Amino acid sequence: MRTQVGIVGAGPAGLLLSHLLHLRGIDSVVLEAHSRDYVQKRVRAGVLEQGTVDTLVATGLGDRLLREGLVHHGIELRFGGQSHRIAFEKLVPGRAITVYGQQEVVKDLIAARIAAGGRILFEVSGVAPTGFDTAHPSIGFTHAGLRQTLECDFIAGCDGFHGVCRPAIPDGVLTCYDREYPFAWLGVLAEVPPSSEELIYAHNDRGFALHSMRSPEVSRFYLQVAPDEDVASWPDERYWAELRARLETVPGWHLRTGPVLEKVVAPMRSFVAEPMRYGRMYLAGDAAHIVPPTGAKGLNLAAFDVGVLAQALAAWYADGSTGLLDAYSGTCLRRVWRVQHFSWWMTTLLHAFDGYDGYDRRLQRSHLDYVCGSAAASASLAENYVGLAHV
Ligand code: FAD
Ligand code: PHB
Repeated sequence: MRTQVGIVGAGPAGLLLSHLLHLRGIDSVVLEAHSRDYVQKRVRAGVLEQGTVDTLVATGLGDRLLREGLVHHGIELRFGGQSHRIAFEKLVPGRAITVYGQQEVVKDLIAARIAAGGRILFEVSGVAPTGFDTAHPSIGFTHAGLRQTLECDFIAGCDGFHGVCRPAIPDGVLTCYDREYPFAWLGVLAEVPPSSEELIYAHNDRGFALHSMRSPEVSRFYLQVAPDEDVASWPDERYWAELRARLETVPGWHLRTGPVLEKVVAPMRSFVAEPMRYGRMYLAGDAAHIVPPTGAKGLNLAAFDVGVLAQALAAWYADGSTGLLDAYSGTCLRRVWRVQHFSWWMTTLLHAFDGYDGYDRRLQRSHLDYVCGSAAASASLAENYVGLAHV
């Protein structure tokens, strides 16, 4: 089998890359370990930055997104018995976020690729990228019981944090930076209308809580829990009671509850591998970096990477120029590190830390008061949250 760009992983990064390359006349094959049904049902991120929405709309993927996505012009920070609104329309005029589930983006991308005759092979195993330090890389894989080789000009490692592409790069090439957090998020998807028009990020001595949503009928919640938390120890009644305790802290506000559709623990980690390229292998999205979800950035960063990569590959196919390909890692890493800082900062600002003494807690509270009370500090949060235009 032969293609121009062999893509490992049919998450948002791999699928969007395949779509962007197709629009530039470049052929690709996507190899995915899971089934189509599995990747379309995997519940993850929910917030799209303005730039991500612009990319999806400009490339013909805006149909359902513009119809069903919920455009939000602010978020709420809740602490100390009060609500504080970060008003995007005032702080970052013309920019907003759109609440639209990652699995909806994935569904739209798969439908677009298939409609365009794109090749996505689901349920492949034994994926083995090789030869990417030469001009003739290839990817070995097994599909429907048959061992095959995909020959290509470039390999895009879009196979997430636990994928095979990053580990295939020889030892000593990459420098990895990481940070683990002493907590995880216990996420619930529930069939209940949101209790708020906008997302609520709640700081509470009992731990952080987030009220998000997916649609006018479905809400998404997260609770800060221990990193090794067992979902089984959180029956629905306990979950709702804890959410109430952390969220119902302002007068007159009540949490609506409903049937729980899904409950899952998500670990919190920061990670960056540098550079994001080795020879003809390019890493994009979670394969190269991950952030804790507090800043809602993982999916958006993946979309940014593949936008840069698609443009660089298009330049190479147009006239053999390598300038943009050579700049790929540096261009992405500037944004990656800005987002690393913002995600770490939001996480540190909003969570409860076990080791904190009275002094640490007062510093944290002062920081929260400053972020909400100062127009400059609010604007800094807002511009990072909706997505910086200049990095
Ligand atoms: P992925 O979505 O991980 O896609 C990688 C794909 O590669 C997967 O389909 C995988 O099956 C496939 N793959 C892996 N290994 C192989 C292999 N060997 N061969 C073939 N295919 C392979 N971000 C937020 O902003 N908010 C959130 O609430 C949030 N929640 C999250 C919850 C969880 C449990 C996780 C893991 C992530 C969450 N994220 C969240 C992060 C966000 O979802 C990711 O940043 C985003 O999915 C990155 O997209 P990606 O395409 O780079 O990687
Ligand atoms: C979500 O809706 O899943 C979501 C929203 C905001 C975040 C993280 C996750 O910061």
